Amino acid sequence: MTDEPHGFDRGLTNYGDRDFARYLRRSFARSMGISVGLLDKPVVGIAMTPSGFNNCHRGMSDLVEAVSRGVLAAGALPRPFPTVSLGEVFLNPTSMMYRNLMAMDTEEMIQAQPMDAVVLIGGCDKTVPAQLMGAASADLPAIQLVTGPMSTGRHKGQRLGACTDCRGFWAKYRAGTVDAEEIAEVEGRLSVTQGTCAVMGTASTMACIAEALGMSLPGTAAIPAVHSDRLVAAEETGRAAVRLIRSKVRPSQVITEKSVENAIRVLMAVSGSTNAIVHLTAIAGRLGIRIPYERFNQISEETPVLVDLKPVGEGYMEDFHAAGGMGALLRELRPLLHLDTVDVEGRTLAERLDEPVGWVDRAVIRASDNPVSAVGGLVALTGNLAPEGAIFKRAAATPQLFESEGRAVVFTGLEDLSRRIDDPDLDVAPGDVLVLQNAGPHAAGMPEAGYLPIPKKLARAGVKDMVRISDARMSGTAFGSIVLHVAPEAAIGGPLAAVRDGDRIRLSIRDKRIDLLVEADEIARRLADHRPPPVPARGYKALYRRSVTQAPEGCDFDFLAKAEG
Ligand code: FES
Repeated sequence: MTDEPHGFDRGLTNYGDRDFARYLRRSFARSMGISVGLLDKPVVGIAMTPSGFNNCHRGMSDLVEAVSRGVLAAGALPRPFPTVSLGEVFLNPTSMMYRNLMAMDTEEMIQAQPMDAVVLIGGCDKTVPAQLMGAASADLPAIQLVTGPMSTGRHKGQRLGACTDCRGFWAKYRAGTVDAEEIAEVEGRLSVTQGTCAVMGTASTMACIAEALGMSLPGTAAIPAVHSDRLVAAEETGRAAVRLIRSKVRPSQVITEKSVENAIRVLMAVSGSTNAIVHLTAIAGRLGIRIPYERFNQISEETPVLVDLKPVGEGYMEDFHAAGGMGALLRELRPLLHLDTVDVEGRTLAERLDEPVGWVDRAVIRASDNPVSAVGGLVALTGNLAPEGAIFKRAAATPQLFESEGRAVVFTGLEDLSRRIDDPDLDVAPGDVLVLQNAGPHAAGMPEAGYLPIPKKLARAGVKDMVRISDARMSGTAFGSIVLHVAPEAAIGGPLAAVRDGDRIRLSIRDKRIDLLVEADEIARRLADHRPPPVPARGYKALYRRSVTQAPEGCDFDFLAKAEG
């Protein structure tokens, strides 16, 4: 330890008398039953996020206990503290609106409370991004621990995992091939343990990204939530946090342009969630790092998909862990990675990958010369419909639709969509393009509404996929030929707002373009009278609307991102 104040002596409360502040703090700490000997130890904060509205964090108390054990064993004092917790399916209008609130809470509580390092425990989709954003801005030594993925359930001999199978069964129910009785049975078999969604959705993608960035311990991203190794990882994370106090490795040394590029490689190789692009952009943005879409596409073209998991492939996260997990994947990607990045242990990626890898299940984690796909799972598009960009998950789409042109069927917002999508009189045909407007960050908080359902009358006729376009996001567990994150969004006058029923739209994945086949003059004429919706009068929603950026900037608040460089 240095002579700098540490532990409870850090950041004393302002009373105008430092000695009084220290005396009072120690007295109140003793009221928590902390012995005098421990009062002088360095302190590890544990940002914990249990909530009765967050099923994915049900195992939080066991994780906090295990982290605390590790911290104590390594000679420091653990101090768990709560922050906002975001349970994906329990928030209205969408968890995305509150990610930045959680990030602010995390940053401010790390800075305001006396701790020498912090362990961040999150899991559900928005929680890990929020914690990494907050930790990057606070820039105190920090380490991420995830709650881990759920284990699968069973239904009539079939493995089920949230939430790709949720969507698969719902699509069958809409198409009439699964009845009400069976869908009720399936409802109880999709999410059967604690932990995050069982497939390579947003939560699992972000867990892999946290490890690829170097912000969590090697090999911890994919350990199932209920596995005893998850608790061992938690204990070791606690010990590592104490080592961080001594090494003083900060998030700004771990999250660098090179480690962000490594994380994008991993995102491509696992064919991860489209949401992760927004989140990784926001995390990097907190440190002034920008990865333009051109570079993103370059990485996508160079990086094969190597992991065969749902929603793109067959397996579940528990299979990925048993197959060798991130260690095995990173070794296959080695020639493409920046090897001089450092992790929270201060080790370079080269040092990590020089260690021998154990057995690898090549059915789940392919060798680089036998990929699932030769190119990455995600691409960025541009064009007159998305001048600032859009995202397309080609790995989860129908290749026959990659080069296509169709007639627009436009929904002007979420209510319009839910009111008319199943209307038997809706003028829609299989080759049409479904367009959803006003579901972007300003209009609606950017919900996961981009996975527009196939109109019931077409689903019942056997149509399984159509080109769909919106300024919304989609769940990382979803699939289909879906153009997302269109920017600028319709609500602020982006060209998406100019699309009318019957317009022609062309998608070209080869050229990475999405275009409205309407003359520029006509598009300008249609947008001339556009007015954004009014800003809410008060509270967090007003702050959100005034400050949220578009998807290519990570939907962070403009006053929280750091200037580039
Ligand atoms: Fe929490 Fe899917 S709902 S990870």
